[in-house]
Amino acid sequence: MFEIAPSILSADFTRLAEEISVVKEAGVRVLHVDVMDGRFVPNITIGLPVVRSIRAVTDMIIDTHLMIVEPSRYAVEFAEAGANMVSVHVEADPHLHRTLTAIREAGALAGIAINPATPVSMLEEAIEFADFILVMSVNPGFGGQKFISTALNKVRVLKNMIREKGLDVRIEIDGGIDGSNIADVVEAGVELIVAGSAVYGKDDPAKAVRELMEKGTVWV
Ligand code: DX5
Ligand code: ZN
Repeated sequence: MFEIAPSILSADFTRLAEEISVVKEAGVRVLHVDVMDGRFVPNITIGLPVVRSIRAVTDMIIDTHLMIVEPSRYAVEFAEAGANMVSVHVEADPHLHRTLTAIREAGALAGIAINPATPVSMLEEAIEFADFILVMSVNPGFGGQKFISTALNKVRVLKNMIREKGLDVRIEIDGGIDGSNIADVVEAGVELIVAGSAVYGKDDPAKAVRELMEKGTVWV
């Protein structure tokens, strides 16, 4: 089983409420919100006020991906703003256990995001305090980049780690997903698939979501 989480980074911000309801009507439950600070990544996007505004217009699951330095300073605030899932980057936080625990105490699911160049072994100690791992399949910062295929093996390695430790941790993937690779990531073990340009970059986002769901449905 997998779900698509459209990333609003590629949506039309002047019509955000409408863009959100279009994918909801197509059966989407999770909305991916990319928070960038211009320091951890070379781009600035949106912050707490936008998350509060989205919360006010939808009951969908809000998945905030914090691409910011010192994420522990803001993680709880995002949960309080209405995020149901909050992920922080392993590369940005030297005190992951503390941050993940604080996110959970604030009532959200706690996630660890991991960049393409960071090995899965970096998660060895902290993974049991997480609800999900967000595997980046592009270098974070921008939508519309090319999928880095080494992410597939990374998902498999991660899946093994989760199995060996007997944990109940979900795997999310983010970056460069489209109809050409969605079946591969599902087969590797991903359960939540972020898609930005492959949804909101299309003329008909609802149709794009439905097509991705079909292409990702693999029989194993
Ligand atoms: C990239 C972001 C992604 C982005 C994905 O740094 O974390 O969530 O919106 O966009 P696509 O699907 O176009 O690669
Ligand atoms: Zn993201």
